[in-house]
Amino acid sequence: MSASPERPSTIRAAEAEASSAAALLVLDFGSQYSQLIARRVREAGVYCELRAPQSIDAATLRRLAPRGVILSGGPDTVAEGNAAPVPAAVFDAGVPILGICYGMQAMAVHFGGRVECAGTASEFGRAQARLLGDGGDLLGGALAQSGDLSLWMSHGDLVTELPPGFAISAATDSVPVAAMHDTTRRCYGLQFHPEVTHTPEGAAIIARFARDVCACPATWTAHNIVAHEVAAVRRQVGAGQVLLALSGGVDSAVAAVLLRRAIGEQLHCIFVNNGLLRAGEAEQVRSMVAQLLGNSLIYVDAADEFMTALAGVDEPERKRHIIGHQFIQIFEREAKRLGDVEFLGQGTIYPDVIESAASSAQARLIKSHHNVGGLPDHMRLQLVEPLRKLFKDEVREVGAELDLPAKQLRRHPFPGPGLAVRVLGEVTAPALVTLRAADAIFLEELRRRRWYHRVAQAFAVFLPVRSVGVTGDARRYEPVIALRAVETEDFMTARWARLPPALLATVAERIVNEVPGVSRVVYDISSKPPATVEWE
Ligand code: XMP
Repeated sequence: MSASPERPSTIRAAEAEASSAAALLVLDFGSQYSQLIARRVREAGVYCELRAPQSIDAATLRRLAPRGVILSGGPDTVAEGNAAPVPAAVFDAGVPILGICYGMQAMAVHFGGRVECAGTASEFGRAQARLLGDGGDLLGGALAQSGDLSLWMSHGDLVTELPPGFAISAATDSVPVAAMHDTTRRCYGLQFHPEVTHTPEGAAIIARFARDVCACPATWTAHNIVAHEVAAVRRQVGAGQVLLALSGGVDSAVAAVLLRRAIGEQLHCIFVNNGLLRAGEAEQVRSMVAQLLGNSLIYVDAADEFMTALAGVDEPERKRHIIGHQFIQIFEREAKRLGDVEFLGQGTIYPDVIESAASSAQARLIKSHHNVGGLPDHMRLQLVEPLRKLFKDEVREVGAELDLPAKQLRRHPFPGPGLAVRVLGEVTAPALVTLRAADAIFLEELRRRRWYHRVAQAFAVFLPVRSVGVTGDARRYEPVIALRAVETEDFMTARWARLPPALLATVAERIVNEVPGVSRVVYDISSKPPATVEWE
């Protein structure tokens, strides 16, 4: 979810040592499904880390000491000879390897097989495979009952000649080597994607690789994560003081409760009302904190400061940077007031970590997401990030383990820059008033009709273009409200939600009738990519 701006050296140092041994390593060759592979492994109770292949050499591998390695799919094609190499150390490590799609092809070539461009036999979508022989210990074991496998194919290349020592585990009508195995070397290849839900047995196959083939214990549970992180925070912080900014979202709330459990009164929570919040949000956060953490919130009403800083600015990246900068100034002020704060708590989660690493490697900025991406060097605050290894669904499980109310855990995400990225162009007070009212109606109707939890995120957007409308005999010429609702598992890709027309009709009618200055409502039917979830 993030393309983090340059971070100061104090923070980079803290990040560098924040790695620990993973039971399994997933090497990401650029497939859109790589994170899903890691999630499936963790759903099997096994801790794994996602790494860029370039970051792996023999020494790193020895330090990480994984019990197995998964090679993801990716856009490269082995057949053209210019593909990303699998680090040689992986094949020398003597641990089981599972290659998926591109990963299988790279493995096949490494061991002396042949891969060719499938040409017209390229296949994208559902397919049916049958096991050959006993299917090998990976597929045969997972599918001993049925012998048939529905699966999701997405490939342009195929293994056309098995490497010596391998046997075919499964085939489809058009793919003779849909899966292969070498039980002696403990190497396995899948031409299809076990990580997607369109391969119904896929999760079982991944679990079998992790737990049975690699013999990883299933110890990655919410209970253990909490115990482990509480101990780690205590070790890191000692008797130090931690300042944590709450955003009202799930991640910072879970981080706060976890930190409170670990260090009690050494945690100081701050909530900055930047004037860019949704209707009722500040009150909700204050009552949530009172309930979960006692009355220890530092509440800063900085709406005027933010609005002044944003006046006349309409470029999205400038808006984000101004907001980030304002936040930092406020933190500095509050940290100084508190005296001896040495640590900054953050609800950073694993996708942020992965994407920051990827974006610094690719040096390509889509949006700067972190509001607190760059603290000034002189603050010398060390980061405390107890959720930095967790995916969003794991954060929710940890939150449940810490007794956070389901209502808080299941809230839609809300971006740090708030409504500033939902009022397109310059952020003005009247536009915020209009947007808040329209947004509240949309969310209220979604909840009332039980659609709120069926979408991943929903919100209204204020478009500063005016369109003509008519009420009675009067002509109106007013801004437009757009509604956005998306379905997604990971927010990296998203599909626009197919909300019932009756629901949309009610929302549009209510907005036009109840919100002064709006006579037109539109529904956004763009998916991500190419559109992003937020409009700015
Ligand atoms: P995009 O617009 O990049 O959004 O498709 C993906 C998810 O990230 C959220 N988002 C942000 N979250 N600070 C945040 O904390 C930000 O600057 C930010 N920008 C987008 C967005 O709401 C969606 O959930």
